Amino acid sequence: MNTATTLLTAENIHKSYTGKAEPVHVLKGVDIAVNRHDLTAIVGSSGSGKSTLLHILGGLDRPDKGTIRFRDADLSRMNDESLADFRNRNIGFVFQFHHLLPEFTALENVFMPGLIAARPMPEIRQRAEYLLEETGLKNRMDHRPSELSGGEQQRVAVARALMNGPEIIMADEPTGNLDEANTDKLLSLLMDIREKEQTAIVLITHDTRIAAIASTVYHLHHGRLEAPAHSNS
Ligand SMILES: Nc1ncnc2c1ncn2[C@@H]1O[C@H](COP(=O)(O)OP(=O)(O)OP(=O)(O)O)[C@@H](O)[C@H]1O
Ligand SMILES: [Mg+2]
Repeated sequence: MNTATTLLTAENIHKSYTGKAEPVHVLKGVDIAVNRHDLTAIVGSSGSGKSTLLHILGGLDRPDKGTIRFRDADLSRMNDESLADFRNRNIGFVFQFHHLLPEFTALENVFMPGLIAARPMPEIRQRAEYLLEETGLKNRMDHRPSELSGGEQQRVAVARALMNGPEIIMADEPTGNLDEANTDKLLSLLMDIREKEQTAIVLITHDTRIAAIASTVYHLHHGRLEAPAHSNS
């Protein structure tokens, strides 16, 4: 592996959920490295911990044990505020359900991460318009999420994830809620982005076509990532 291009490294990640119910030890020593421009797929059965892992890799949640580095930054050493700011600037998220803000238009949803990062408004607007055009939504910019189709909502979510030019996108079954035509559209959009912006993508998916083109496919099983079942790199 060429360490010069390593973007994200996680080592010995453990995570348990404890509450009123029986504790669940979900992650039991996960190691992963993602290079620039990699397309990393994570597969595994329902409840195996895929979403938990993705949230931890992206700094949305913290592990009980283990380290996550993004370039030179150690996410575990950041306080909540720095971590939120870091995430907003460097990591794009796309979830199974779009999580768009219902009271805002497509354009406003897309430029929100830019506003949060306190970037100048003209620049934010231009980038948001560009991204909506790129995602085929030029004529839907002023629509609210409820006035968009499921596929369109998900493409807005992708445009939003790209707002601050992240080097990595974390996508949690982004096509899980779409029909075949919209799945194809979304996947080819993600692949285009990867080429154009040289973005790395970590994707939780059941889509076998992704597995065929991914740099690496990991299988999350018994709390660990198993040796790649398939690797193109
Ligand atoms: N907040 C929580 N509190 C307690 N247990 C949780 C919590 N979140 C997840 N779990 C448990 O942790 C395990 C892993 O959940 P996770 O959502 O990461 O699985 P997943 O692989 O993404 O599943 P799916 O394919 O169904 O989305 C599950 O058994 C789940 O019940
Ligand atoms: Mg999940």
